[in-house]
Amino acid sequence: MTFPSQAALADRLKHIEGSPTLALAAKAKALAKAGKPVLDFTAGEPDLPTPPSVKQAGISSIEADHTKYTPVAGIPELRSAVVAHVNQLRQTVYQPSQTIVTCGTKHALFNVFQVLCQPGDEVIVVSPYWVSFPSIVQLAGATPVIVEAREDDGFLPEGDALRERISEATKAIILNSPSNPTGAVIDAQRLTAIARLAKEYRLIVVSDEIYDQLVYPPARHVSIVQACPDLIDQTIIVGGVSKTYSMTGWRIGWAVGPQPWIDAMINVQSHSTSNPSSISQDAALAALTGDQRSVGEMRKAFQERRDRMVDGLNRLAGLRCTVPAGAFYAWCNVAALGQSAAVTAAQWLEDALVAAVPGEGFGSSEFIRFSFAASVQTIDEGLKRLSQWFSKR
Ligand SMILES: Cc1ncc(COP(=O)(O)O)c(C=O)c1O
Repeated sequence: MTFPSQAALADRLKHIEGSPTLALAAKAKALAKAGKPVLDFTAGEPDLPTPPSVKQAGISSIEADHTKYTPVAGIPELRSAVVAHVNQLRQTVYQPSQTIVTCGTKHALFNVFQVLCQPGDEVIVVSPYWVSFPSIVQLAGATPVIVEAREDDGFLPEGDALRERISEATKAIILNSPSNPTGAVIDAQRLTAIARLAKEYRLIVVSDEIYDQLVYPPARHVSIVQACPDLIDQTIIVGGVSKTYSMTGWRIGWAVGPQPWIDAMINVQSHSTSNPSSISQDAALAALTGDQRSVGEMRKAFQERRDRMVDGLNRLAGLRCTVPAGAFYAWCNVAALGQSAAVTAAQWLEDALVAAVPGEGFGSSEFIRFSFAASVQTIDEGLKRLSQWFSKR
């Protein structure tokens, strides 16, 4: 008899599937590789290269033989740079010991939930949510509790809706501002209301602020620890260099928060990945401490692309797209087509060679996510192809 390898998988993996965004991006890439002129709007990463000075820092790191283990939580210079960066933007006074450098922000979140959650705990996740939040919660044995944020409320988490889902078992709430996939940016007033709830019910706030530098005026990024400084003891902030410095492949993120939680994360990390890549740490240090002009340039370029993309989508009959105040995604309502987002996205890829991510993985079958981290030409051509698709429908 053959070994029942499928049945041997651990129970906690029952609900875990691979990231749907990565799967669709892979399909689009495979079609492109086969010579099809696919236009790819699936990317969760800036299309611009990593800034030259940052790349050079990586090269210099190798040449200087920084190719050995580092302290588990990261090199001291980088931990100091991370807290300086976080403190400057949020008017906080975190100490370098209160941060851990991780293998990307996803890994920071993974560590956070490993140390804070266990079976029986519930974690509030605002929908539409970034695809990995529920899975990361489940991998810690806890249960995600989904709370809808409404389109006509700008996809922002709303106090009463959150309160309704809080139970004895609620341990934490995840905030993600700006949001992937909606681009919604939570204003100070709403953050204050959420902070009040967190205080009342003694909830931990896990604040994913990875897109904090990609907010388009007049919107501005506010962290919950700015809106409510006395929530600092029950908040953990995660972020990283992936989006801000176009460094997705370097895999550097961080968490900043209460000392006991960071210490526990360092312990967990010491038994899993150990330190993040030494070379990437040197590059991230250069990114955080070097010239920040590239960040402003990218923000400006993305704002123009956003306007083009959202305007174009809204011109297509039946599509409706709220203007995202941050990140680089247009979250487009396709419900009027009378079929699921998965079906529509598959048809667009098949018929128009336009790849965008259906909303099912983000908690909604009525929306499709377009990344506007693509060239203006790609955006214009994509909109043209969709317009042709609609005219043939
Ligand atoms: C909201 C959110 N958090 C975390 C991540 C993970 O980023 P990293 O590349 O730093 O792991 C992403 C990436 O798409 C994201 O959108």
